[in-house]
Amino acid sequence: MALPIIPLAALVLLFSLALYKYFIHAIYLSPLSRIPSAHWSSSLSALWIQNKRRQQKETLAVHDAHVRLGPIVRIAPNDISVNSVDGGIRTVYAGGYEKGDWYYNAFNNYGIMPMFSMPDHGTHSKRKRMLSNVYAKSTLQNSEAMNTITEKLLNEDLVPRLREVSKKGEPVEFYNVFCAAAMDFVAAYVFGLKNASHFLQEPTMGAKFFRDYKARAAYTFWPQDMPRFTAFMSKLGLGHCLVPLWVNQANQDIEAWLIAMCDKAEQTLQHAELEGKKGQVEDYPTVYAHLRNSLLKETQTKSSTSPPASQAVDSNRLAVASEMLDHTLAGFDTSSIALTFLTYELSLPQHAHWQRKLQAELAPLNGSRDAKSLDALPILHAILMETLRLHASIPGNQPRITPANATLGADRHTVTGLPPNVRVQAQAWSLHRNPDVFPDPEAWNPARWLERSERSELEGNENGSTPEQLREMQRWFWAFGSGGRMCVGSNLAMLDMKAIIAGIWGSFGTVLVDGRGMVHNGGYVAEPVGWEGKFCLVRLEEL
Ligand code: HEM
Ligand SMILES: *[C@@H]1O[C@H](CO)[C@@H](O)[C@H](O)[C@H]1NC(C)=O
Ligand SMILES: *[C@@H]1O[C@H](CO)[C@@H](O)[C@H](O)[C@H]1NC(C)=O
Ligand SMILES: *[C@@H]1O[C@H](CO)[C@@H](O)[C@H](O)[C@H]1NC(C)=O
Repeated sequence: MALPIIPLAALVLLFSLALYKYFIHAIYLSPLSRIPSAHWSSSLSALWIQNKRRQQKETLAVHDAHVRLGPIVRIAPNDISVNSVDGGIRTVYAGGYEKGDWYYNAFNNYGIMPMFSMPDHGTHSKRKRMLSNVYAKSTLQNSEAMNTITEKLLNEDLVPRLREVSKKGEPVEFYNVFCAAAMDFVAAYVFGLKNASHFLQEPTMGAKFFRDYKARAAYTFWPQDMPRFTAFMSKLGLGHCLVPLWVNQANQDIEAWLIAMCDKAEQTLQHAELEGKKGQVEDYPTVYAHLRNSLLKETQTKSSTSPPASQAVDSNRLAVASEMLDHTLAGFDTSSIALTFLTYELSLPQHAHWQRKLQAELAPLNGSRDAKSLDALPILHAILMETLRLHASIPGNQPRITPANATLGADRHTVTGLPPNVRVQAQAWSLHRNPDVFPDPEAWNPARWLERSERSELEGNENGSTPEQLREMQRWFWAFGSGGRMCVGSNLAMLDMKAIIAGIWGSFGTVLVDGRGMVHNGGYVAEPVGWEGKFCLVRLEEL
């Protein structure tokens, strides 16, 4: 019997190569092998972390690894997490590491990438330059439209609605209130107040929308982290085993709802151009118009025979809608989470003194909610910053890819000569819990954001921070990310959240009735998980 020498030799060779690549190299020789493994299997397989991702339990698992193992950990053979400023977020995010495909696999509205998911540096920064100005702090603070939107949404919608409920003596479920308020704010600035959402006025419609929107999040794992498997299952006609059909339907409903607002805004703009007048300032679609016009200018300068404007508007319709969808959803989702946890903390009996301090600070404004005046209030700022620290709405998992020969990690945990195309992430959850920077990190203590000199004015006995400590805290604060892909809406978020807080605690005191649902989901977005369908039940007491 002749042995099949050649095939056998090939098999042995293949086996040895695999053994070398997936075991010997991965465990002992790869530069990544110098990084401590989060789980015993992390250098061999991605199973452990992928399973955590699928269950939306990644953030705490990675945090636990950083606490045990230091500022750089290996969470899968080709996947690491860093937890430091130097050699961490400064190197990766301010250093412009690219986003990879995780974002556009999951965020791809109308089949067109918005800025958020664009992997390519050039395309992304061009879009970002178009949009930065409408969201700049000075633009927003001086915007007559934003000022009127704030006044109307607070005085005509939010406060009257809360007053009505408080008169009945019923507790308020605040997560839904904040989803509605945050959505109405962002959408009003993007599309103009009249053409935007009116969820504060239509709470039942709002609640349904938010339930559908949220339920989808559990399924983004498949297209985002298992794209090839998900595509394969779709080809077999088994896609619905991973992502139920109603998720696609919900996505289409959201896209249809959003593009209807774009089309209304477009009509409003064309009407204004025809009539030669702008109408009410608060009804002008500020962000929509800005992007629409920037893209129009680009098309017209590109081709020498410029197409007629209406044709060019049509050809950009979906690109603009994709971007606007992302801003409205990113804007309401994150801000509402932060506001709900803020309400929870502020309404705990042991934090009641912070309510009194806040109310004392708001009283001299006599009900004015002017953006610049609100931004100058240190207690309001401290309460919000402390909430964004302890309860970051996006607490983890912002993946990037390494360039060749990267050096990451800190101090004696520094690793040099890393290969390219390694998935690297940092997480606000862990950065915000560094006890050297934020002493007693699990405590919600707004005083840490106040300068020590201001402490004398506070009757409380909490400690403030020195200017050097405050600078260090700012370096580690990462609720909005950092670098070129940092949140474009951070100023709008700070402004609308401050206005909403002032609107509520300027008129009411709050007492927590049931906060059992206020536990963070551990996925990309850290919304409260809820308890029997309730999140943050609070009783209001009119001042
Ligand atoms: C409390 C409120 C908010 C928080 C905590 C927050 C947080 C973040 C974070 C952490 C990122 C980086 C995400 C990543 O790279 O994975 C981001 C990006 C982004 N955010 Fe926000 N955000 C908030 C509000 C808003 C608002 C109001 C808007 C509306 C305009 C917005 C629009 C965006 C967009 C468009 C990006 C992508 C930016 C880019 O890729 O250049 N966000 N946000
Ligand atoms: C959109 O807003 C304009 C005012 O800017 C208003 O005249 C128009 O009726 C609104 N469209 C819809 C469909 O609500
Ligand atoms: C608020 O009202 C008081 C008394 O009427 C006045 O002295 C103060 O200047 C007002 N403050 C503002 C910000 O308007
Ligand atoms: C890799 O980076 C290290 C440290 O930054 C540097 O000294 C070295 O020259 C680099 N090697 C290559 C091949 O670029």
